Order: sequence, then structure tokens, then C-alpha cells
Amino acid sequence: MFLRNCWYVAAWDDEIGGETPLARMILGEPVVLFRDSVGKAAALEDRCCHRHLPLSLGKVVGDVVQCGYHGLEFDAAGECVNVPGQKAIPPGATIDSYPVVERWGWVWIWMGDPSLADDTLIPDWWWVDHPDWKTTRGNGGNPLKVKCNYQLITDNLLDLSHLPYVHPDTLGADSILDHPVRTERNENGVLMTRLIPDRPPAPFFKMAGGFTGNVDRRQNVVATIPSHCDVDVATDEVGSGVLEYGGPPQGAALHALITSTPETETTSFMFYAHPRFFGKDDPKMDEIFRNDFTRIFLEDVVVMEKQQEMMSRMPDAPRIDINVDAPTIAFQTILNEHIAAEQGDI
Ligand code: FES
Ligand SMILES: [Fe+2]
Repeated sequence: MFLRNCWYVAAWDDEIGGETPLARMILGEPVVLFRDSVGKAAALEDRCCHRHLPLSLGKVVGDVVQCGYHGLEFDAAGECVNVPGQKAIPPGATIDSYPVVERWGWVWIWMGDPSLADDTLIPDWWWVDHPDWKTTRGNGGNPLKVKCNYQLITDNLLDLSHLPYVHPDTLGADSILDHPVRTERNENGVLMTRLIPDRPPAPFFKMAGGFTGNVDRRQNVVATIPSHCDVDVATDEVGSGVLEYGGPPQGAALHALITSTPETETTSFMFYAHPRFFGKDDPKMDEIFRNDFTRIFLEDVVVMEKQQEMMSRMPDAPRIDINVDAPTIAFQTILNEHIAAEQGDI
């Protein structure tokens, strides 16, 4: 069961455009994305209402997408506007259209009631466009396909106690486990905070900040329903103030902005981007974010896909919870409350 009245990322902005429409399955539903003649993005049900050929097999002509079977043409609102060989458009020649908004390099889609689409619900990830920050598109600007339910991705990001075990050579440091997390709930998600004062830096941050001694390290994760995570982390000299959340950025500070879009119940698209506050003019750092962070995420993908495999094989197997699960449990509770409210169960 998916939350529908919310925004998901459908695509990177440059995945859409030109003569070939983009097919993407979202929430188990086939969607076709294209741009009209002035470059405005549109999303429609990927099904011609004539004989059900996916419209993504057709082509974009001016402001419409033309079906590749008998040439019916549909505008951005999903209305059939041309039937070759006849003047009249038959009644009911309409398919679903979905509201879309372009922001932060992504095309966001609203799969629920179009009248409720509110673009202020898109997270304010302003660092992406700000000149003080340098943003690298994750996975070369392509969605990363992961064979797991999208909630496992949010779980992974809200529980950074996995770093020493899954990413020991880059992000892991034993000190993470000595410092408990604080979880704050809000109406649409949670804020997870872990502060680690005066400990040796993790390998990546030691390299990025050139630190020679102990450091202060901050890990915050702001998770917003349905699946939008801002992993806001910073490492700097001891006593430098990096432990103050909300202060000006400093030291080796970066955001991993990650959102996962369900393709089906057991497959997802992970979209991510990395605004960083350090090494902004350093092409070597661009490469690290372009390539090494994808390698780091691929370490997570192995774990999450194996989890999904086991959960699909044994869906009713019991499981236990431990202290570090507090943020993930809080987030899942909030998400489930929203889904239930949308279904009219509460
Ligand atoms: S199936 Fe699309 S025009 Fe016939
Ligand atoms: Fe990870």
C-alpha cells in the first residue's frame, strides 16, 4: 500500500525531452513522461485508450505524444486531441494525467488526487542551487534501481549505526556506536540526530578535511514522508561548533539528498544528489562524489536486496527491535498513519 497524496521523484530533469517519451513504472503503475514544445514536463498514464499500446512506444510531436499504433495524439492533460482519419474525437478518449513539478534537478510527480497537489510539500533542498555549495548528481545522474521495497532504503538512511559494518573503509568509525541517537517527530517525518565529540575522524572525512587529530562529528537525518531523506553530516576540528545543528555550514559538511520512488512493492528507484561545502573547485572531489559514493551506496544495495529476498521468502518471520531502531520505527509509524488516513481507516 503506497501513500498517493504526496510527491515522488519520477525522473532526473534531463532524462525527459526529445522525440522519445520516457516510460517509468511508479507505484506499480505505468507512467509516460515527455516535454512539450516549450520544454514543459508532463506525465500521463502509459496506456493508449484505443487498444492499450503503451504510449511510451510512440513519439512526441510538438505538444502531444502520439501513439505508435494508430496515431492517436494526447496532450499534457491526457485528452485525445487527434484521431487520424476522422474529425470527431470519441467520448471518453482521455487518459489519466499527473501533476508534475521540476525542482532540485528532478521531476516530481503527484500520484494522488490532482486537486490536492501542493508544491510546498516538496522538501526545501535549497543547497542544490546555492552558489556556496557544489552539487554532484549521484550515479551519473541516473536513478539507481534497487530490488527492494522503498521503505528499506529509508530504514537504511535513518539508521547510520550500519556505517562501521557496511562501510568500514570510508564512512565507518567505531565511535558512532558509543553515541545514542535522538529522535524528534514532526507532522510529516522525523529528525534523527547523533553528535560525536572529540573522536578520530572516519576515513573519508579525514581525507576530505585534512584532519590530523580528533574531530567533532554531526550526523542528522531529516526524513520526510513518503521517502525523502536529507542526510546532513559535518566533521570539523574539536570545539569548532559543528555540533550545533542549524548553525552556518563549516568543515567537511555535506548533504546526501536521497529519495526513493517505489517502482513496485519490491523494486525501487533511488535518486540522490550530493551538495558539499568543501572542495568546491576540486575536480578530484567531483569524481569522488560521482563514483565513490555510488560504490558506497552499492554496498547498501547488496544488504537491502538480500533483506528483501529473505523478507519475500519468509514474510511472517518474527523480528526484534533494538535501540538504534527508534528513528526508523517513528518514521514508519508516521508514514503508516498517513497511509491509513488516506485510506479512510482512521
Ligand atoms: S492503440 Fe493507440 S492508437 Fe490504437
Ligand atoms: Fe549505507
